Amino acid sequence: MKFYIHTYGCQMNVRDSEAVESLMIAAGHEKAASEDDAEVVIINSCTVRQKAEEKAVGKSGNMIAAGKITGMMGCAVKRMGEDIFKRLPKLHFAVGPRAFGLIPRIVSEGRYPVLELGEDVVPVGMDAHVDTGWQSFVTVLLGCDNRCSYCIVPDVRGHEYSRPAKEVVAEVAALAKRGVKEVCLLGQSVLRYGIRNTAWDDDEGEAFPRLLRALNEIDGLERIRFTSAHPKGCTDELIRVYRECPKVCRHLHLPVQSGSDRVLAEMGRRYTRAEYLAAVAKLREFDPEFAVTTDVIVGYPGETAEDFEATRSLMEEAGFDNAFVFKYSPRPGTRSAALEDDVPKEEKERRDQVLLADQELRGQKRNDRLVGTVREVLFEGPSKRKADRFSGRDGGNRIVVWDKPADCSVSPAPGDKVRLEILEAHPQILIGRPV
Ligand code: 5AD
Ligand code: SF4
Repeated sequence: MKFYIHTYGCQMNVRDSEAVESLMIAAGHEKAASEDDAEVVIINSCTVRQKAEEKAVGKSGNMIAAGKITGMMGCAVKRMGEDIFKRLPKLHFAVGPRAFGLIPRIVSEGRYPVLELGEDVVPVGMDAHVDTGWQSFVTVLLGCDNRCSYCIVPDVRGHEYSRPAKEVVAEVAALAKRGVKEVCLLGQSVLRYGIRNTAWDDDEGEAFPRLLRALNEIDGLERIRFTSAHPKGCTDELIRVYRECPKVCRHLHLPVQSGSDRVLAEMGRRYTRAEYLAAVAKLREFDPEFAVTTDVIVGYPGETAEDFEATRSLMEEAGFDNAFVFKYSPRPGTRSAALEDDVPKEEKERRDQVLLADQELRGQKRNDRLVGTVREVLFEGPSKRKADRFSGRDGGNRIVVWDKPADCSVSPAPGDKVRLEILEAHPQILIGRPV
């Protein structure tokens, strides 16, 4: 059957959708160019905030109304369970985040409705990829055992499971053979790789840094990224890996969530403000241009003006290269859902705007330092904003754009390395010229 997958949420969902696409094609189904063209539409859902869940449910409703065989997968399915059929009585199938491997068979059999929430198991098809070009996601750590008070992820994605290192290395080597130049290793808290279960046959060294070292040896692979990190994982050995493994990008997405020790403790983040800042300092001591990006939640229950100012000052001290700010959204069943969501909507909005405005200035300052330097960029394609420009990213995940050459014959191919001198800096973008 002709299918189309619509993906909401994080990179983990993007990766799961890719695996489903690959499994569907292997089972004889055909990828449609658009949802209009599809007989089956699969919506991969997110539930990290209420709004995300509503989007996926709304989209599914529309697809049902359009007469499509409609299935949902992902985090919202697991959270809602059977209730999903109360919201969407005509939904054909719903599968949880660790049960996506069942989708091709469900579609082939065509006996609806089906609900498969899935066990805490390793999904089938973890290594199924489609030809996505030069970049690929690889999930190395499933689930999450951190029990942050506000977060629904452990409830929906289950316990941590580290995929065997041998399997990951083989998967990345196979991708590199197919022309993949950049991989991004995924895990909710990826530096916990190899902690709950062993990933290597022996227990020599720290599991995740060791994985990075092994991947660094793969021919043809140019860049290794990973996300998300936790300050506890910023060990001396990780810094040594950054120093010794040129393919490992000098960028870390290190969600901080809050700068107030009181709020951090309530959230159960397992670090203090000082410990967090020490981790950032360690990275920047190693390389002052090391890119550190973060996630922040504003309006956590009981977040006072003082707590908020602590977040503001932490962000300034950390000198983040980029930051994603989220307004607190209570998720049923999480510890913080029992607390009163007492920061008014308008105040959450205001705090959000303040942090974003701060970050604009900070991003400008951080990027100004790069003017005059030469950055190595992997070419992605034409710039989204200006078609007469090319766009790519440096190791720090910074977007760099430059003028298209007049002569098309010198145009790079996606994934090609380009060296650019930075001429101009903006908060979110650098403008360069090939050298
Ligand atoms: N409300 C708002 N933001 C949340 N996040 C996780 N749970 C919630 C919630 N209940 C944010 C965190 C996390 C990012 C992926 O989403 O900042 O790092
Ligand atoms: Fe896991 Fe905490 Fe990240 Fe949520 S915020 S996904 S619980 S590490």
